[in-house]
Amino acid sequence: MEVFFKLNGQPVKVDVKPNEVLLDVLRLKLGIKSVKRGCERAECGTCTVLLDGKPTYSCMILAPYVNGREVATIEYLKENGELKPLVEAFADVGAVQCGFCTPGFLLTVYAFLKKNPSPTREEIKKAIEGNLCRCTGYKKIIEAIELASKKMKSG
Ligand code: FES
Ligand code: FES
Repeated sequence: MEVFFKLNGQPVKVDVKPNEVLLDVLRLKLGIKSVKRGCERAECGTCTVLLDGKPTYSCMILAPYVNGREVATIEYLKENGELKPLVEAFADVGAVQCGFCTPGFLLTVYAFLKKNPSPTREEIKKAIEGNLCRCTGYKKIIEAIELASKKMKSG
């Protein structure tokens, strides 16, 4: 079957099987490799995309479900500059090691800070509880989010 949706601002049409997940469509059919394949069972968050602006595990979404909707990955936010303060903050505090989890974190945090530009540390911890990182121990990621929040406020 064919599904039509917006991917990073552009309309796309793609042939899918009814049981195919969005993660596979993005990686294998549309070449979006920033969306990572991790656990494939809603535990790690490496496959996170924004679906109509909301962080969503693409490994859990059947492709037909995105028909008529909008999907965004870090490529889109990078292109229009929206990720810059976040990426800089992650780099400034050294919140990236292997980087496998990073695209998922960036999308989750981007959506979170849009809703809550001045979060407490507890709110940050809650916001990222669906994204796992096997390298950093989270301390630096939390510091990066705090720094990004300050950068975004100072414009
Ligand atoms: S690959 Fe989707 S949550 Fe882990
Ligand atoms: S930086 Fe390696 S998994 Fe997070």
